[in-house]
Amino acid sequence: MSLPIDEHVNAVKTVVVPAAGLGTRFLPATKTVPKELLPVVDTPGIELIAGEAAELGATRLAIITAPNKAGVLAHFDRALELEGTLLERGKTDQVEKVRRAAELIEAVPVTQEKPLGLGHAVGLAESVLDDDEDVVAVMLPDDLVLPTGVMERMAQVRAQFGGSVLCAVEVSEAEVSNYGIFEISAETSELDVKKVEGMVEKPAIADAPSRFAATGRYLLDRKIFDALRRITPGAGGELQLTDAIDLLIDEGHPVHIVIHQGKRHDLGNPGGYIPACVDFGLSHPVYGAQLKQAIKQILAEHEAEENAAEFAVESVVVDSQVK
Ligand code: G1P
Repeated sequence: MSLPIDEHVNAVKTVVVPAAGLGTRFLPATKTVPKELLPVVDTPGIELIAGEAAELGATRLAIITAPNKAGVLAHFDRALELEGTLLERGKTDQVEKVRRAAELIEAVPVTQEKPLGLGHAVGLAESVLDDDEDVVAVMLPDDLVLPTGVMERMAQVRAQFGGSVLCAVEVSEAEVSNYGIFEISAETSELDVKKVEGMVEKPAIADAPSRFAATGRYLLDRKIFDALRRITPGAGGELQLTDAIDLLIDEGHPVHIVIHQGKRHDLGNPGGYIPACVDFGLSHPVYGAQLKQAIKQILAEHEAEENAAEFAVESVVVDSQVK
């Protein structure tokens, strides 16, 4: 029987959140607003991640940012003047919203001077760990894995099998080249857990060892930092976290995946961000019902426009045949 995470000697204290990317897929919004601060309904994506980290029992969020992205850290500061104004106006609900990020967890800045890759970004976080931290979590803020709780499951799996544990989802063949893909072997005693034999970053379809893809949640043994120092640039010319994990596996380090069956959103591009907002919006106690009506109406209007356009094309064809 695995131990609850808070009793486990390797309980997670630090969650590393790489947030140094340029957000090019979100331009022009990300010209001045960091991608991680874009709101899902009213809450920045990074605050959702902080909430998940706090739920796991972590006390420190090591946010890796680029020098020009100070706003991400500022979101975790208190805003005393704003709080004062809101209090004066009796807006206590809003005060709680403003305070929440600062109260959830201690955000610690780590600066990545140059965009040298995810592996490089994660490696920088070693400097903020305490000596007794044998395990570190990494959560990619682009990935929302729902319902939350997968990290707790991963911690149980680490307590049971040791080593490092990652979260995986099954993707289509066409999608494998967007992800870190696992080579898996034998089943384990747990239905949702598989042992990993290797990992490859963004393989071509023909080279993909499976369709199980890494999805932004990692529970890594501290040994990862040593491996990160020994890798060379990989896919895209960047230092890849995937390659450091693969190196550890080659050296006999146990790595397992928890196969996530729930929902997942990719906040890293508008095509994934919009459905995430709709999903969160529909579940929202204030906006949900109204949003549902609005979506139905928008869909009906689009369908009517499409039908009208089809009818117009058909009429032109008939007219030309008559002439
Ligand atoms: C990163 C990782 C990749 C992982 C993906 C999940 O890629 O390198 O292994 O599967 O996140 O979202 P990125 O999306 O940053 O290119």
